[in-house]
Parts: sequence; structure tokens; C-alpha cells
Amino acid sequence: MVLLKGFVKPEDQIGMVSMCRQLGKGPGGFYRPSLKNGAKLNLWMMSLGKNWDPTTRSYGPTRPFDGAQAPTIPDVFKMIAQTANSTANEFPQINPDVCIVNYYTNSGKLGLHQDKDESESSLTKGLPFISISIGDTAEFLFGNTRDKDQATKINLESGDILILGGESRLLFHGVSRVKTDTAPSWVKEETGIRPGRINLTFRQY
Ligand code: SIN
Ligand code: MN
Repeated sequence: MVLLKGFVKPEDQIGMVSMCRQLGKGPGGFYRPSLKNGAKLNLWMMSLGKNWDPTTRSYGPTRPFDGAQAPTIPDVFKMIAQTANSTANEFPQINPDVCIVNYYTNSGKLGLHQDKDESESSLTKGLPFISISIGDTAEFLFGNTRDKDQATKINLESGDILILGGESRLLFHGVSRVKTDTAPSWVKEETGIRPGRINLTFRQY
């Protein structure tokens, strides 16, 4: 697992927020997903490249509830993720065909879980997923079990990139809270982003 603090340049963070807002308003854009038990997740989500369905925990070209096709992942997003992975120099390179974008308001959170719905080959090879955070700071938890009391807590700030690959690929992880009013002022001023946090995770199915 590698954490690259402040890796994403301010102009790229601003560009990513603008593009997410644009994509988020269109077909296949942000929605509030539900789990199998009907509970709503505490975040807004959109899937780029392929759709990830939290209800069935599976990937497909379209999302079941409205039939919308997953929008294409912008090349500049992929390039930033791949450059980070090369810089970390710990894991094989990926050609991201999935990017899940989460938007958390200041009351948003995400329980501890593993990301294990990618192909068996991707998981067996330990191909990394690459996570980019923009906006307010998240309190991020990770550990070897679902028990949050045993998890390690770190802050993910705007521009940070976290990469989980190899032996860390199946770590449990989640967001315990988003810290109000912690985004750099230029993110807010330049993008008009609502209070909260955007997280993008790139994977190779
Ligand atoms: C996720 O695990 O899907 C997102 C993690 C994060 O928001 O940092
Ligand atoms: Mn995850």
C-alpha cells in the first residue's frame, strides 16, 4: 500500500472536479445507491468505464435501475492514476477500465469493506486500485478485518493518492467521516464544489 501525499497538482484537481460535475449531471451520472438489504449508502456514486452495481456487487456496461451506459473515463484521469502508480513503483501498471467516483457530503461515510468484485485474474495478480481524493479531508480506515476498532486511521487530504496492490489489494477499508471545511480554499473558489469530498478509484477489471 502506498500513499502519495499531495500528488495531484492543483490545476488537475480543479479540472477533475469540473469534469466530474459535468459527467455527474449527465446520463449515468451521480445517484444514491442502495445495498442488497435496501439500505442507502451514505454517498453519491457514478461509475465510469463499466458500471459497478452495489446491489449485486457486479460489473456491467449499463446500470440496472435506469439502463444508463457508464460514461467513458476521461484519458487525463487515467494518465494521472497511471503516473501515480509508476511513481509508487511497487505494483504492476494497470490500464484502468473502471473508475468509481464517490461524492461524500460532510455527513457521508462508508463502512469497512474489501474491493473484490474485479476479475479473478486482476485480483490474483494483485493489480492495484488507485484512489484519488479531492475536497474535504476524509478520515480513512484500513485493516485486516472488518472490525473498525482494530483498524488504522489516516487522513486523506485533497490531492492525495492511495494505491492498494499486491498483498494490500484486499485490505478492508472505509471512510469513518469527512471533516467539514477542510478543503483547500482554491478548490472551493475555483470549482464552486459543494462542501464535501470526491473520491475516484481506478481499477482494471
Ligand atoms: C471506496 O472504498 O470505494 C472509496 C474509498 C474512499 O472514499 O476513500
Ligand atoms: Mn473500496
